[in-house]
Amino acid sequence: MLRASGRRLGAAVAPAVALAAALLSSLARCSLLGPSDPVASVLSPYFGTKTRYEDVNPGLVSDPEAPRRDPELLEGTCTPVQLVALIRHGTRYPTAKQIRKLRQLHGLLQARGRGSAGGRDLGAALADWPLGYADWMDGQLVEKGRQDMRQLALRLASLFPALFSRENYGRLRLLTSSKHRCVDSGAAFLQGLWQHYHPGLPPPDVADMECGPPRINDKLMRFFDHCEKFLTEVERNATALYHVEAFKTGPEMQNILKKVAATLQVPVNDLNADLIQVAFFTCSFDLAIKGVKSPWCDVFDIDDAKVLEYLNDLKQYWKRGHGYTINSRSSCTLFQDIFQHLDKAVEQKQRSQPISSPVILQFGHAETLLPLLSLMGYFKDKEPLTAYNYKEQMHRKFRSGHIVPYASNLIFVLYHCENAKTPKEQFQVQMLLNEKVLPLAHSQETVSLYEDLKNYYKDILQGCQNSEECELPKVNSTSDEL
Ligand SMILES: *[C@@H]1O[C@H](CO)[C@@H](O)[C@H](O)[C@H]1NC(C)=O
Ligand SMILES: *[C@@H]1O[C@H](CO)[C@@H](O)[C@H](O)[C@H]1NC(C)=O
Repeated sequence: MLRASGRRLGAAVAPAVALAAALLSSLARCSLLGPSDPVASVLSPYFGTKTRYEDVNPGLVSDPEAPRRDPELLEGTCTPVQLVALIRHGTRYPTAKQIRKLRQLHGLLQARGRGSAGGRDLGAALADWPLGYADWMDGQLVEKGRQDMRQLALRLASLFPALFSRENYGRLRLLTSSKHRCVDSGAAFLQGLWQHYHPGLPPPDVADMECGPPRINDKLMRFFDHCEKFLTEVERNATALYHVEAFKTGPEMQNILKKVAATLQVPVNDLNADLIQVAFFTCSFDLAIKGVKSPWCDVFDIDDAKVLEYLNDLKQYWKRGHGYTINSRSSCTLFQDIFQHLDKAVEQKQRSQPISSPVILQFGHAETLLPLLSLMGYFKDKEPLTAYNYKEQMHRKFRSGHIVPYASNLIFVLYHCENAKTPKEQFQVQMLLNEKVLPLAHSQETVSLYEDLKNYYKDILQGCQNSEECELPKVNSTSDEL
């Protein structure tokens, strides 16, 4: 496409310019996509939580194992002493629920008969396109997802060689959510590290590795399942996602429904927002899992994709983000846990003791990362995302595809700095989101004194107790019964 537009431009100006433009754009195309990933879709930036990691970090495509050193990362007199990483599982299969909806839509297309003669019949192409997903796949990690994790491990190990040293290998601490895709992600990450230490040797079974398999801890990694207030007020509350439901029947979605019904030549009443969304996701799944651009991508243009991205973001916003306070407050145990690790490392360093856990790796979900980032004040727009302000929110901060693609990761790096003028200045912290330095919420700086960071979050560190935050207001039922 780039090349074509280059030629068109050139033809209008001068042949020499045309040649240069064509060459340049094909070069640009190569460096953008590289030989390993010839497949991309113009819809890719709008896949929300189903976004491929490399679509957020395009530099990875040409060499996914080379570390990408953010120039803002501290070096020199400051040395990293501890790294705490929260990692979302890698690319996964659709869930059984999504597969069921896809099968329903596929059935609809197969039942509709051949479209009217002539022209391109996308409906027929889709009816013939193999579904390729079965119920057993139910959200499991795919091979591409294992690769996401192995490559992330290789990059992090090269980026922080002292922390991921061979000697520290036995002291790695791995925690995971109980979901298969997370357990498997942890295992694949370890295999990536094995590759780092022993290039060319096949990795042993995770159970036989020195640090052992990741330990399951749902209280930390799936805190949302353990928070009664969240479950009652949001998860099981039919009206909590009001804006998601309202947007599904609003004008933006209705336009897409009509358009898709016409394109696929099915009655508009047979379609609904959920089916449209699953068609869109299938484009993303085929791309991420199989590396193919499927005809499902041809159903939508970029404007449709932006609307469907908003629908996905609305749900994340109200269920995991700033929509309700309890969404983020329910993650405060995890937040405190991170700082307990950092505290301990600071203490050990001050006493010149070895750091007991230089590297802590925790595998979870988009649903683990979003509340935590919200709790820390990130990606908060001035106005809430609602069913009625799609246009006003075009340039919103809260775009889940940029924040939590597959394999997304939030990393806290604790540094010890020599030549510090005061003891307070010895310990500093940086945060990385998807391998890019994330400016601190309180200062917009790329690095903070550890003390200052703790001070900024003291309300959460001291005043947030999960047991209290998640408790439901007491109902006095005795008075009714008497
Ligand atoms: C459900 O959500 C609505 C909207 O936020 C809220 O007004 C209502 O109190 C919630 N219901 C329960 C049982 O928490
Ligand atoms: C419950 O309600 C009754 C009657 O209103 C009151 O006397 C009692 O103190 C209440 N109990 C609690 C625990 O609030």
